[in-house]
Amino acid sequence: MPHPPRIAPSILSADFAALADAIDRVAPETDILHVDVMDGHFVPNLTIGPPVVAAINRHTDLELDCHLMMTNPGEYFEAFQRAGADGCTVHVEIGGTAELIARMRDLGLRVGVAANPDTPFAAYEPFLDDVDLVLVMTVFPGFGGQKFMSEVVPKIRQTADAIRARGSSAVVEVDGGIDAQTIASVAAAGAELFVSGNAVFGAKDPRQATRHLRELAEVATATA
Ligand code: DX5
Ligand code: ZN
Repeated sequence: MPHPPRIAPSILSADFAALADAIDRVAPETDILHVDVMDGHFVPNLTIGPPVVAAINRHTDLELDCHLMMTNPGEYFEAFQRAGADGCTVHVEIGGTAELIARMRDLGLRVGVAANPDTPFAAYEPFLDDVDLVLVMTVFPGFGGQKFMSEVVPKIRQTADAIRARGSSAVVEVDGGIDAQTIASVAAAGAELFVSGNAVFGAKDPRQATRHLRELAEVATATA
């Protein structure tokens, strides 16, 4: 069964010196935040880790969706879980996915797998029955504010169709360049959880931007 659309504002595009304020702005319009963890190896950027997740978790009840763009995420699952992460998502490109899924499950984390734009559906198809979430990247990870890659839309549809055909309740999440111009196309393709950084925190009114994106997704989902 498809899930109602949800927007996951990505704090990567927020002012890190005023994170609490940024979170308070979007909290009335969503129940989930996207936390981009980058290790300087899997992607050429460094961002945040468990201590910041813990600080965010002390400040808010929003679900914390941690996107681990890391070569060795397994070494940090416990730290993220203790910090208050609700779910962790690992990239299939690093390999060892079955074991990583099992370890996240053991810790009680919501389990996600992510795929880069050039990673084929076949790379994560074997795990569809074992995950709670599939994150289909619509940019190459590493930085916020990049241009949406429309060539990924068929893979989003393929992923959503496969999940529904199995009767699975796994969520289809999309991440990268999602804004008021692009969200309808991914919603119509079956995406249900929409990460948005720049289009939310780069807006004058992040609360209104979050609401607007959700409404656009609702319309596109209802008419798909
Ligand atoms: C990209 C990150 C994204 C990023 C999205 O590496 O995984 O979550 O913050 O930002 P926008 O919406 O600006 O593309
Ligand atoms: Zn992300």
